[in-house]
Amino acid sequence: MKIVVTGGLGFIGSHTVVELQNEGFEVIAIDNLSNSSIEVLDGIERITGKKPLFEHIDLREKAAVQDFFKKNNDIAGVIHFAASKAVGESVENPLLYYENNLNSLVYILQELTNLPTANLIFSSSCTVYGQAEKMPITEDATIQPAMSPYGNTKQIGEEIIFDVAQVTNLNSVLLRYFNPIGAHPSAEIGELPLGVPQNLVPFITQTAFGLRKELAVFGNDYPTNDGTCIRDYIHVVDLAKAHVIALQRLLQKQNQEKVEIFNLGTGTGSSVLEVITAFEKVSGRKVPYKVVPRRSGDVITAYANTDKANNVLGWKAQFTLEDALGSAWKWEQKVRS
Ligand code: UD1
Repeated sequence: MKIVVTGGLGFIGSHTVVELQNEGFEVIAIDNLSNSSIEVLDGIERITGKKPLFEHIDLREKAAVQDFFKKNNDIAGVIHFAASKAVGESVENPLLYYENNLNSLVYILQELTNLPTANLIFSSSCTVYGQAEKMPITEDATIQPAMSPYGNTKQIGEEIIFDVAQVTNLNSVLLRYFNPIGAHPSAEIGELPLGVPQNLVPFITQTAFGLRKELAVFGNDYPTNDGTCIRDYIHVVDLAKAHVIALQRLLQKQNQEKVEIFNLGTGTGSSVLEVITAFEKVSGRKVPYKVVPRRSGDVITAYANTDKANNVLGWKAQFTLEDALGSAWKWEQKVRS
């Protein structure tokens, strides 16, 4: 079965391509290489023994999307990762985010819903919950006003999918990720942040490697155990496997609603200081850090209730925080060698 993975050379996309190929799917990876490298294809091949088909397409180009679907009208499903994801950049350049994250989705849906079956897995985010009132967060928690254009594109993306599914053959699973980290245990693929990393774990691994002087911990006066923010860090390989299961659910028509939503996390919250300590333990390296003022837009605490994904999808995160941090460290060392 032919599956399209947009953003297939990106961080979560590439790990999902690996899991799809391991399950025997034929994958076409689409990417515009704006935040990824063509060499990722070789890493995927070294892990799975197979290079996925690759199309260098920018999904903002409507004609290119139309052309692709015309040539590939036997697609069984699309997993749509391609999107920009830097919160700060989205505040600086909102139109880039609305164009990139929403036009691409619209063009894909226009073509996909012309096929006999239209199955879509959509990358959403726990950012849609904002600061939820109750922990752990369930899928029916209130959607809060978005705190950034990036977050807004995830909310609008979900709404577009609900509206389209009402009046077309579209079936979709929206996966709300908590904090994806780590790398493939083989260290053949991983996260490749451009420039200075904005996310915690790549900043930690680069600091431990000596590329950055020290980590800035954004605030230690939050109402948490140690004063730092709490997040639910999930290994990217666990996340990738959930995509394959969600896709199989659509392909086997097991979904109970046209659009279903699942949280993807471990169910456990870790503070910034706990992540640093766990990293130091698995790597044997010190992470110099300094506490600085809070980062605007950060929520205090966010971790998932994963009952729905556990019970309905039959999926559960297998890797620990230490596994994930160890794999991120192995990858950082490999990339710099
Ligand atoms: C961020 C986005 C989220 C997005 C996700 C995608 C914000 C507010 N949220 O999640 O919407 O879906 O990235 O990648 O940007 N931290 C430090 N020092 C650092 C970096 C981070 O102390 O140098 C802290 C943060 O304050 C936070 C935690 O580490 O408490 C995790 O931060 P990060 O990795 O950026 O993820 P989120 O902010 O949770």
